[in-house]
Amino acid sequence: MKISMKIDAQSFDYLACTVFAPVYPVIAGQILEKTRITQGTCLDIGCGGGYLGLALVQATDLLVLFLDESEEMLDLVRRRIAENGLEDRTDTLRGDVTDIGLQDDTVDLAVSRGSVFFWEDCTRAFREIYRVLAPGGMAYIGGGFGSAPLLEAIAQKMKVRNHGSDEWYEKVERNLSPDTRSRFKTALKAAEISYYSIIHNNEEGLWIIIEKRTSLPNQQLLDK
Ligand SMILES: C[S@@+](CC[C@H](N)C(=O)[O-])C[C@H]1O[C@@H](n2cnc3c(N)ncnc32)[C@H](O)[C@@H]1O
Repeated sequence: MKISMKIDAQSFDYLACTVFAPVYPVIAGQILEKTRITQGTCLDIGCGGGYLGLALVQATDLLVLFLDESEEMLDLVRRRIAENGLEDRTDTLRGDVTDIGLQDDTVDLAVSRGSVFFWEDCTRAFREIYRVLAPGGMAYIGGGFGSAPLLEAIAQKMKVRNHGSDEWYEKVERNLSPDTRSRFKTALKAAEISYYSIIHNNEEGLWIIIEKRTSLPNQQLLDK
């Protein structure tokens, strides 16, 4: 199921820096464990308040470029960059994932958490992300909460905030469902991206890992 509504930056950011805060360093660790990319340029797509990219900056030597369609979100990121004195290792870029203002082959690691569920045209988005990836670069795109216990704790807090309603958890279940996984696979195929794997489990969530190989001898398709 695709959600096309815009996100309210202030309310999302409040949740991101309180209820969701523990998930970002965990997901950053999972990304680094899977990709092993710790140097070069990282693009955080649909960065919101920037917490995933900031966790990656703090754990690596990466230079992080924060991309979002919302100027309000980017203002929050800029404030956080200044608060943490990270101006020399970070930058912001406003734009849509289907039209990234970067040259071909320039990004070593593209990451995106929780944004893909809002993208209206995943095929165009995946094609565009692939275009900006450097040869040997990887993209890690999807959604999750780091671990099953973290998700459980957040779901309980969200239920209290929503006066006993399970609507937040139901949306997460839809986003991380086999249907969404199938939709992603269809979009990857249409984008002619052959080399990818999918992580889909109760701990990490649902993530696509795309690799831009310099050569594809077997046009191998990985789907774990
Ligand atoms: C749910 S928030 C997630 C923010 C952040 N990645 C996180 O995990 O905290 C989704 C973000 O994606 C951005 N977004 C949605 N559609 C987008 C698009 N087509 N291009 C760029 N950014 C987009 C929204 O503005 C929002 O900041």
